[in-house]
Amino acid sequence: MSDTPLTDAIRRYRLAVSSRLHVPSHGGGPGSPALKGLWGDLLSWDVTEQPDLDDLSHPDGPIAEAQGLAAGFFGAARAFFLTGGATLGVESAIFAALEGGRALLAARDSHRSLLGAAVLTGMDVVLLDPGRDHGSGVSLGPSPEDTEQALFAHPDIGAVLVNYPSYLGVAPDLRAISEIAHRQGVLVIADAAHGAHFGLDPRLPAPALAMGADLVVLGMHKTGGALTQSAVLLLGERAAGLADRVSLAIGLLGTSSPSYLLLASLEQALHDMRDAMPALLATAIDVAETVRGPARIAVSRPQDPLRVAWRSEDAAAIAQTLALTGVRGEYVDGDTALYCVPFGAREQDIEELRRVVAGLPAPPRPARSPRRAPTRIAPRAALLAGRRCVDLRGCQGMVAADIVAPVPPGIPALWPGEPISRETADHLLTEASKGRRIMGVDHEQVWVVAE
Ligand SMILES: Cc1ncc(COP(=O)(O)O)c(C=O)c1O
Repeated sequence: MSDTPLTDAIRRYRLAVSSRLHVPSHGGGPGSPALKGLWGDLLSWDVTEQPDLDDLSHPDGPIAEAQGLAAGFFGAARAFFLTGGATLGVESAIFAALEGGRALLAARDSHRSLLGAAVLTGMDVVLLDPGRDHGSGVSLGPSPEDTEQALFAHPDIGAVLVNYPSYLGVAPDLRAISEIAHRQGVLVIADAAHGAHFGLDPRLPAPALAMGADLVVLGMHKTGGALTQSAVLLLGERAAGLADRVSLAIGLLGTSSPSYLLLASLEQALHDMRDAMPALLATAIDVAETVRGPARIAVSRPQDPLRVAWRSEDAAAIAQTLALTGVRGEYVDGDTALYCVPFGAREQDIEELRRVVAGLPAPPRPARSPRRAPTRIAPRAALLAGRRCVDLRGCQGMVAADIVAPVPPGIPALWPGEPISRETADHLLTEASKGRRIMGVDHEQVWVVAE
């Protein structure tokens, strides 16, 4: 049996159909000279649902087969292919896991995709400060102890959302968090937008499902080798019964014309994961590990060795100099820069980066940010309430009506529904004064709930 049933079906379709009298309007190529000139034969793969190509929301043909193979590969009860990125995966996982008005426990540095689910479900969110690494100050994710306390304090929590790993590749103690959550009858959702490749090399953290998570969102386009916007949602045994709710969520939030370029790329990426990717990953990790120096961030938790993060007071200027040599990284956030080494990377791809990082001095220890108590917020009510724009200098104690997030990386400094503290407002003003783009801040003004 083929391990690429969906790709095979598209191939058969391309051969069998001589006149495509249906959308997409380029008809597979001939109707669109500009695109045909740019992408050639690739266009003929750009189809959407047809009777012989299955239906993503109710699959019973090649998509069902391909998803079944994916579930088997990842050791999941069910796998869902997604063409709306990990965003759609996180939204669907939260929607599926939370029934009957239960709340979500999430680290304050979660991705903004949880907001879509909050609007759809009306759920409250209990925001937890992540633990910080003593040396580097970077987020280690929620600690098991803090998770346990929050679950006792808020017995209506139905699911915990954990970044596994963080953007910097740091993996929190998901096994301990899962055990604690399961003892309380709470489901664990792992946002593995950056962890699709975990488990494919012994130097990478273990995969989220093996660590006890019940619903796992894999950002296949970020670290799994598939095309941008493709992702997979996995259900573990404990969450197998939620498959219908996942389908419902994907139907509500996803497109009705899924791109088969993305779906086929998912299937091909899975083929690579079984076949060529482990060796390519091993080489890339060898290469990434040669980037050394006191500025490289190393933390007290398992970390993806392909995430080369370093700290310097001059991070932005150094990144600009590197860009002039043709080397572009993922982002610079204040004094922290992140470069992601892809599988397949070669020595020469990181030569400049290695040279620059080796020459950087140890950065000063970051100031300790005070721990905040968990905050309970109602993001939907805050987003839909009447709002007004106020100056950041005078907004202390008011309630944010929108996400405020320096981008990149787009991790919210404020969630809708969260009271604005003096420290947060000052921090945003400082970042804005450095010319940083901040989503939700315009001319030093933010949206707050009109009282
Ligand atoms: C932790 C995390 N979760 C989810 C997402 C959303 O992923 P996507 O861009 O695939 O929708 C991102 C995007 O950067 C992310 O960093």
